[in-house]
Amino acid sequence: MAGKFTLLAVWTLALVNAECKHGSKFPSDFLLGASTAAYQIEGGWNADGKGQSMWDWYLHQQPDLVSDHTNGDVAADSYHLYKQDVALLKEMGAKSYRFSLSWTRILPNGTADYINPYGIIYYNNLINELLANDIVPFVTIYHWDLPIGFSNQGGWLTDEIVDKYADYARVVFAAFGDRVKHWITVNEPNIHCTFAYGYGLQPPLVKSPATGYYDCGRNLLLAHAKAYHIYNKEFRVLQRGKIGITVDHDWPMAASDSIDDIDATEDYQAFHLGQYLDPIFRGDYPHRMVDRVAAASLRQGYNSSRLRSFTEEQKDFIKGTTDFVGINHYSSNYVYRNASVVGMYEVPSFDDDAGYATFTNPSWPESASPSMAAYAPGFYDLLLYIKEAYGNPELYITENGFSETLSEDLYDDLKVDYLRTYLDALLDAKAAGSNVQGYFFWSLLDTFEWTFGYEIRFGLHQVDIDDPARPRTPRKSALVYKEIIRSGVIDYNYNPDPYLRTKVKINCTYNNICNK
Ligand code: NOJ
Repeated sequence: MAGKFTLLAVWTLALVNAECKHGSKFPSDFLLGASTAAYQIEGGWNADGKGQSMWDWYLHQQPDLVSDHTNGDVAADSYHLYKQDVALLKEMGAKSYRFSLSWTRILPNGTADYINPYGIIYYNNLINELLANDIVPFVTIYHWDLPIGFSNQGGWLTDEIVDKYADYARVVFAAFGDRVKHWITVNEPNIHCTFAYGYGLQPPLVKSPATGYYDCGRNLLLAHAKAYHIYNKEFRVLQRGKIGITVDHDWPMAASDSIDDIDATEDYQAFHLGQYLDPIFRGDYPHRMVDRVAAASLRQGYNSSRLRSFTEEQKDFIKGTTDFVGINHYSSNYVYRNASVVGMYEVPSFDDDAGYATFTNPSWPESASPSMAAYAPGFYDLLLYIKEAYGNPELYITENGFSETLSEDLYDDLKVDYLRTYLDALLDAKAAGSNVQGYFFWSLLDTFEWTFGYEIRFGLHQVDIDDPARPRTPRKSALVYKEIIRSGVIDYNYNPDPYLRTKVKINCTYNNICNK
């Protein structure tokens, strides 16, 4: 009998280990959820008194900016269909949802002298619906949709924008902070500044790679810090929430073991992650970045560095201003620096200042988005790098995802592989001591993917944007994610069929009355 029992125990253990490749499981309080952003899903671009953001305005003036000439006017229509979104989250068993607030839905002119009551009602409804379904809201205050009035005045290149942003942050803390306990000040300052003020490829189309890119980042950091201090002084005691920033970072790996490539990889860390996290954790920009931009500026005949330094007062103001770190991570890169990099970039520019080039490995599964290939070991390395470099802060993966084109339809197998292998890497990093406490897949549903429009789909749920009712249908990835959330383990053998499961499609009327 004892022998039989032992055999059974060994067999059960083997089964458990086969299920959890690395013997680990998500703890029940780990926040597995999904992410979206206002302009990418809400639509209702001028509904109920909403003002225009720079994305509204520029895409109306210049539809050619977007490859398929679409825009976010209606998008997934989450302004009207938010209950469906919450129902999708609930159906998946999601524990948390990250979404962003549209600045001009709340403050139509951008300024805090007029608050649009309908904007407040909309977000109150969404937040209350989430809480009623036991889903923790993570709220991004700014996800790139600057009010057009401020954009016309110079936007993130002007020092004045910091106070405007701070006024807006105060309004949203006051309106929603009784229920929202996780605030993200700014989404991806690096990407925003690169495309909006560096290359000039996204609104407001400012091409200023020599200084605009740096000035934008500097002001976003000051705005972040100001919001943090406002929260601390005016709201924290009563509301007891947390406030952090979300930065994007792909994992860099030296292309060879040459000193130049290793050095270039450290510069990659400095110019990307370090540009934002070093001032917050260490009190200033990374010295590598400061030195390289100063040296290049000098060579180019500037009187001072194109990277404006922070005053001592500003350094103190920024240092320590985060309760947690949000990381958006999608891919990894090989980094190199050799003679071929000389002359590769415009001079002067932030790319030239950094002075390296990157490539991805052609054997990695490629997504539909440029330079976003799947390499989960890089995710593991990034999590442990943050642990070591920044004192193991409380960490949330605020975005991670894999895009496909419409042709993959509901059978998004590459995305399924991506989800599983990245979550596996996360579990490994957690087991190795990373203080990661939550993960948000990008995205809950197909979103307006900025200048790629709807040609690129990231959704766990497909949205039919040709149908005025914008029906949502779970892809295979949504079903796989649901099972991971339910069981806490990653089962590589689970193979649900999204067509057989369309019964889980949730029907809601336009007035948000939902029947399962
Ligand atoms: C990061 C951005 O925050 C989000 O808006 C975008 O859609 C995803 N990356 C995918 O490109």
